[in-house]
Amino acid sequence: MIVTRMKTRNCGELNLNNIGEEVTLSGWASTIRDLGGILFVELRDRSGFFQIVANPQINPEVHKVLEHVRTEYVLTVKGKISRRPEETYNEKYPTGQVEMYPETIEILSESKVLPFVLDDENVSEDVRLKYRYLDLRREKMLSNLVLRHKIVQAVRNNLNNKDFLEVETPILIKTTPEGARDYLVPSRVQEGKFYALPQSPQIFKQLLMVGGIERYYQIAKCFRDEDLRADRQPEFTQIDMEMSFVEQKDVIKVVEDLIVDAFKAAGVEVKPPFTQITWQEAMDRFGSDKPDTRFGLELFDIGDIILESEFDIVKKTLQAGGIVRGIRIEGGAKFSRKDIDDITKLAMSFGAKALANIIYQEDGTPKSPVMKFVTEEQAKRIQDRAGAKAGDIIFFVADKPKLVYDIMGRLRLHFGKMLNLIDENKHALLWVVDFPMFEWSDEEGRYMAMHHPFTSPCLEDLDKLDSGDLGNVKSIAYDIVYNGTELGGGSVRIHSSEVQRKIFKALGLTEEEAAEKFGFMVNALQYGTPPHAGLAIGLDRLVALLARTESIRDVIAFPKNSGAKDLMSDAPGEATLQQLRELHLKSTARVNA
Ligand code: AMO
Ligand code: AMP
Repeated sequence: MIVTRMKTRNCGELNLNNIGEEVTLSGWASTIRDLGGILFVELRDRSGFFQIVANPQINPEVHKVLEHVRTEYVLTVKGKISRRPEETYNEKYPTGQVEMYPETIEILSESKVLPFVLDDENVSEDVRLKYRYLDLRREKMLSNLVLRHKIVQAVRNNLNNKDFLEVETPILIKTTPEGARDYLVPSRVQEGKFYALPQSPQIFKQLLMVGGIERYYQIAKCFRDEDLRADRQPEFTQIDMEMSFVEQKDVIKVVEDLIVDAFKAAGVEVKPPFTQITWQEAMDRFGSDKPDTRFGLELFDIGDIILESEFDIVKKTLQAGGIVRGIRIEGGAKFSRKDIDDITKLAMSFGAKALANIIYQEDGTPKSPVMKFVTEEQAKRIQDRAGAKAGDIIFFVADKPKLVYDIMGRLRLHFGKMLNLIDENKHALLWVVDFPMFEWSDEEGRYMAMHHPFTSPCLEDLDKLDSGDLGNVKSIAYDIVYNGTELGGGSVRIHSSEVQRKIFKALGLTEEEAAEKFGFMVNALQYGTPPHAGLAIGLDRLVALLARTESIRDVIAFPKNSGAKDLMSDAPGEATLQQLRELHLKSTARVNA
């Protein structure tokens, strides 16, 4: 440690080996107790707790000062480490067998009464965020930041050993193609022009490859103006990387090795190679492109059987390009009417128009409103397809594919939790590969890039690009998924300006628009671009999962709330008229004069 006049040792590192040692300690008065006139203070610093004692008979001057000390005052004390009487050993702390009767004490700083009790579990997150600097004094928050630090160091070590160069890329940029809304920064010098904050360093890391850097990484800040959730922040951090002269399998290998080290930093051992499944398989089996494979409950397809039945309403859906997927719940025949109603309502809240069910009763016969439309034989085949036994229930939904996957994927997670099927000790890491290149957007009325427009299409699908069969073009993109969360994603990139132009065209960008937005990128591709590929891992998500906390806010020192607000500093704030004028902006909102 750095020894200073105010601190020669850390509180948490002292034990019976230090008896008799003369030390200076500094920290916060965490708790103060007065037992029969003797004052006991738990002094806290980053390393832990240490008990100091003031007895009017033994160290009266110190006692006099301590009488004025309240919790969270900052103190420095000097004295000898002594052994506690054995009957007062505190097993809770590593330092519980030692203490100090300080010879001198100094109050370095006083504290007002804290607005909340640090360890009170019932304090609202809003209050904690408002006083984040106090919240950070909690052991849990500290240990999250320590874990984050350890993971980042492990990542840096791992990549440094593989010849990666850490390069910073700019924050004030043109725009990035990640598909979220940009944060804009008005330019004062260039009237009417705006920078965007990077949604990721995507373009720059590719240009670094054109520049011959070959292996790049960055612990990169990214900014996305999107709807926030527990695992999304407007600004977040990526472990961002890019490599030249590699293919998908090379990236996967590098990332698996990186994940091993990052997990090791959190005390978790995982063994590559991780399972790989295609996007289509993930959707078909789990209804999700980020499946939680810690439990089964896989979906099944009964479209062919329904098509032979008289279930006209569902048949029509299938004939119009829809799909049907079912899920089997073991022992679900004993669900009450109300249970089934609740599940149906839940499915409807996910967007289902209806949720059909068939109960396979204990005597083996099927019971269902659907039996009006399917024969006993068809019900039996559905039962076989579902792998259902007597006493089970199956649910199914028919609709457009995207909706069916989403509803059934969410139902599957619901049942997984409800039936306690998720083994919390499992570390399910898997790759989802072969993503579609494009995704139809009803909102935009056009195809959008599922990953981003610099992702390479599968070479054998290039003719589909020409013929306009965009829905069937696959891309060389891959995601890494951990326990049902998308940890990271990446792709092999386009390194031909001609293919890049085709993709822009498929995305509905005119030549002019493409040139205006990404012209420098297309230009760069014309000057000798190495084949390259990369990936980015969401650092906040990685740390949150390894810290076993639900929200990434818990692993970010100063996060924003769900309204993208910093409750502590009250950002975003208003601008003065003067500032707006300088930026050539007019505001319709109220502004400070
Ligand atoms: P992508 O957009 O998939 O890829 O992002 C990579 C990872 O970043 C994390 N992430 C987020 N974390 C917190 N809050 C957010 N708002 C947020 N958005 C994304 C996720 C995600 O998996 N440039 C590409 C990577 C590449 O192709 O190399 C990219 O940004 O964990
Ligand atoms: P009824 O409305 O009684 O004629 O029965 C229709 C049955 O079909 C109900 O059990 C519905 O739950 C079911 N059903 C209707 N549409 C769908 C759909 N899109 N997916 C699944 N089940 C459906």
